Amino acid sequence: MPEAVAGHTVLIAGATSAAGVAVAAALAGAGARVLAVGSNPDRLQRVLEVAPEAFVYVCDLADFAAVTALAASVHVEHGPIDGLIHLVGGWRGGGGLDGQTDEDWDFLHERVVTTLRNTTRAFNADLRASMNGRLAIVSSVSVDAPTPGGANYASLKAAAETWTRAVGHGFGKAGDTAAAVIFAVRSLEGLEPRLAAEVLALWEAPAPTLNNTRRILTSA
Ligand SMILES: NC(=O)c1ccc[n+]([C@@H]2O[C@H](COP(=O)([O-])OP(=O)(O)OC[C@H]3O[C@@H](n4cnc5c(N)ncnc54)[C@H](OP(=O)(O)O)[C@@H]3O)[C@@H](O)[C@H]2O)c1
Repeated sequence: MPEAVAGHTVLIAGATSAAGVAVAAALAGAGARVLAVGSNPDRLQRVLEVAPEAFVYVCDLADFAAVTALAASVHVEHGPIDGLIHLVGGWRGGGGLDGQTDEDWDFLHERVVTTLRNTTRAFNADLRASMNGRLAIVSSVSVDAPTPGGANYASLKAAAETWTRAVGHGFGKAGDTAAAVIFAVRSLEGLEPRLAAEVLALWEAPAPTLNNTRRILTSA
């Protein structure tokens, strides 16, 4: 039986981490057309090592003009996308509330929120027009139990979750076949194969049962 995701075009925003590489390999192995995006051309080679048939794009996803240009290129070369897996993140924090610096806030805001806003705005029409549009982000369980030392991070992850639910609300309009899903983890280390399997499973269930759900992924 072919995987449900086979034949779909899926863009991974921030594809060069261990999780991104695992997701790219799983999607390509399942027959999806993988578009892997990162800001660093050398690191994108990691994706091609596990998924030689993937297409790689260098783009600063924090720059909306660059993301708009990326979407135009993707449309010319591949047509509209069916899936957007957003994996751009990063961690800054510690030091209690006094340690929550403006520099860390700006770093996290750019990665966690701005890149999500940019990619979802640029590809929203694609996902809504697709017969099986899917958006997924990876958030953190720290949103549920924030600490002073992680206040910047948890607050911005909460903002990303809210943005994703807003996109999902648009998907939920009558007739839409798209779904937005939030995965939440404590740490991704060792969880990369599980995340990859969960991403493939996004195409195995009908959109209304998935849309605006939040799934906590644990290694157990
Ligand atoms: N790692 C964890 O334990 C953990 C825990 C909870 C939640 N999460 C979340 O899970 C997701 C994946 O995390 P991760 O640790 O695997 O990856 P990550 O280190 O957060 O970054 C993922 C990718 O984003 C890319 N990237 C960064 N800035 C970019 C930009 N301006 N434009 C384009 N690409 C950019 C990086 O590639 P280049 O530098 O090559 O561009 C990298 O491949 C993130 O949302 C993260 O917050 C992770």
